[in-house]
Amino acid sequence: MKPGDDRAIEEMFNSISSKYDFLNDMFSFGFHRFWKRKLLDILNPTLGEKWIDLCCGTGDMSMLLARYMKSSENITGVDSASQALLVAKERSKENYSSIEWINCDALETNLPSHQFDGLLMAYGLRNLSSSEAGLREACRILKPGGRAGILDFRSFQGASIQGLFQKVYLSLYVVPIARAFGLGKEYSYIRKSLVKFPSGSQQIQLALSAGFQKAEYITLAMGQMGILLLKA
Ligand SMILES: C[S@@+](CC[C@H](N)C(=O)[O-])C[C@H]1O[C@@H](n2cnc3c(N)ncnc32)[C@H](O)[C@@H]1O
Repeated sequence: MKPGDDRAIEEMFNSISSKYDFLNDMFSFGFHRFWKRKLLDILNPTLGEKWIDLCCGTGDMSMLLARYMKSSENITGVDSASQALLVAKERSKENYSSIEWINCDALETNLPSHQFDGLLMAYGLRNLSSSEAGLREACRILKPGGRAGILDFRSFQGASIQGLFQKVYLSLYVVPIARAFGLGKEYSYIRKSLVKFPSGSQQIQLALSAGFQKAEYITLAMGQMGILLLKA
C-alpha cells in the first residue's frame, strides 16, 4: 500500500481496528499512554473548553482527554475508518458517553470554522495524504488563539543513530510480531509512511504556512517521538 492512498488507508485501519489497541500496547510497551498524557499536560485542556481529536481511531486519546477534563462533554473524535469508530463507541459508552464520534475525512471535516478551543492528533498526521492540508483544516476549525498538539513518530532525514534505531525497531520488532497476528503487511506500512513525513522543522514551516501563528516542536522517548505544538 502506498502512502497518500486515502481509500486504502481507510480500509487498512478498518481491518486492524479490533486488534489495534492490543498491538499498540504491545509495540509501545504501554508508553503511548504516557506520551499522550504528556501531550495533555502540555496543552492543559480545561473543563468547559471544546476539544477535537482528529484521526481518533479507537478513541483512547479522546477518552484520556475526557478523564483529564473530568467530563466527556464538548469532546469530538473524528476518524475516516468507520470500524475504528465502532470500537471507540463501544469503549466509551459507559463512562464517556457524551463524546461525539464523527466519521469523516480530517482533511475536509465540513465542521464550522473557529469553534474549538483545542485540537489533538495522535499518530494521524503521518497518515494523511497531505500534512499541510491537514494542518490547514486543523487551523480552520480552531478558534483564534486555540491550541493544538500533534503527536507522531519522528521522521529522520539522513543517517543517524536514532533513525537506525527506528528502522531496527520497526523492521525487527513491530513487523514480525504483527505478522504473527496476520497483520505484517499492515504494520510494514508505518515505515513507508515515515519516508515522506516532514521532519520537526519542516512541520513547523508547514504549520506556519497553513495559518498557525506559533509552532514549536519537541521530542519525546529519547528522540523517537515528536510533538508539534501550535497556536492558531
Ligand atoms: C495510527 S492510527 C491513530 C489512532 C489514535 N489517534 C491513536 O493514537 O491510537 C491513525 C488513524 O488515522 C485515521 N486516518 C487516516 N487518514 C485519515 C483521514 N484522512 N481522515 C480521518 N482519519 C484518518 C485512521 O483511520 C486511523 O484510525
